[in-house]
Amino acid sequence: MIDLITESILDSTIQFQAPLAKNWKNPNAIFLTGATGLLGAFLLNDLLNKTTADIYCLVRGNNLSEGKQRLQNHLEFYSLWQNTKRIIPIIGDLSKPLFDLSEAKFNELAAKIDVIYHNGAMVSFIRPYSVLKTVNVSGTIEILRLASISQTKPVHFISTLAVFLNRIYGSTEKILETDTPELTSNVKGGYKQSKLVAEKLIMEARKRGLPANIYRPVRIIGDSTTGTIGNLSDSLCSLIKCCIQIGKFPTLNIPITILPVDYASKAIVHLSLQSKLPNKAFHLFNPNLILWRTLFDKIRSLGYLIEEVSYDNWLTELKNEASKHPNDKLYQFLLLFLRSPNNLMANKPLFDAHQTINELETANIICPRIDTELIPIYLKYFQKIGYISLPNAGHN
Ligand SMILES: NC(=O)c1ccc[n+]([C@@H]2O[C@H](COP(=O)([O-])OP(=O)(O)OC[C@H]3O[C@@H](n4cnc5c(N)ncnc54)[C@H](OP(=O)(O)O)[C@@H]3O)[C@@H](O)[C@H]2O)c1
Repeated sequence: MIDLITESILDSTIQFQAPLAKNWKNPNAIFLTGATGLLGAFLLNDLLNKTTADIYCLVRGNNLSEGKQRLQNHLEFYSLWQNTKRIIPIIGDLSKPLFDLSEAKFNELAAKIDVIYHNGAMVSFIRPYSVLKTVNVSGTIEILRLASISQTKPVHFISTLAVFLNRIYGSTEKILETDTPELTSNVKGGYKQSKLVAEKLIMEARKRGLPANIYRPVRIIGDSTTGTIGNLSDSLCSLIKCCIQIGKFPTLNIPITILPVDYASKAIVHLSLQSKLPNKAFHLFNPNLILWRTLFDKIRSLGYLIEEVSYDNWLTELKNEASKHPNDKLYQFLLLFLRSPNNLMANKPLFDAHQTINELETANIICPRIDTELIPIYLKYFQKIGYISLPNAGHN
């Protein structure tokens, strides 16, 4: 069994006695991880737009031109590519000591960077802690090492609200942004465990003098204006596709919240550019939750004939379809995901973020509504790329 407390001990050689980077408020150089991922592409774009800094992007690849090409292809996919010298790829790997850079290169980078956005992670709900640790925990330790050398660089760490999803927190409790997630053996699932350990390392670094903010988004999904999303293996996208394919959805009494990636990114960049030294946590979720049934009512109103059936009936149908299509990754993923029904149905605590939401609204950063605004846009995108059939085709 993993001892999460031992995992969260930060190397005593990582200290933050170096003076604070003098340009931290108006950075000349930002270090960003995970720019080839969903949220990272938008963070890179928003950081380019909202600062004048060069953005050093840690990216995997065999050489600089491959790294740059990966960034360009990825941002072009989201129509975000800006042809600018301000995007500077750094070929490296979060799972390796010093990101696999030479010590001289690592130190040179540490002397140049004014602020760090650590967003890169291995995001997987089915991999165990031992696999995820290499990137999510060890990578965070290397980020803290980078932040500590030459000058103390504030860190903006992208975590997840899932760090609070365990049996300690009941469904009636309201979790505040000032609350600290508990590190207990009740935390199940490698992803949650690895992100929680990473948060604890950031918090320990804070105690040692590092200015750091923690951002905890809920499930992030495609761009709210185009619906574009690269990775459709997300559990909600998979469930919607599956229910449309089999023409049935299960009766569930759960709320659904989704956060469009463009909103999440704008929120993080806005909150991170405040003039106060970072030392807070922010909960990022869509304030307008909807019920599971409302989601499917909306999908039905867009022309899909989907019948509501009991969960057991639906699961039997899913297993039947999976047996007819043994190579279909969608069914295999969902069966694996639903092996722990809690993944879908666990009672979740309520989260408070009213101050953050008010602050964002004052800056005109407003989360679109799920039912009236987001679902039609996402379904249209799913249809456009052939991820789901059109209404009245196939089953409908
Ligand atoms: N998606 C969500 O619903 C959600 C919700 C809450 C919080 N978050 C958090 O938000 C952050 C971004 O999530 P996302 O959905 O945008 O993730 P994503 O699309 O899976 O992107 C992950 C990024 O991390 C990079 N990465 C992974 N392993 C790496 C390694 N060994 N070395 C260097 N880079 C590596 C990936 O690079 P490659 O392209 O090379 O793989 C990619 O750029 C994560 O910290 C995640 O925990 C996500």
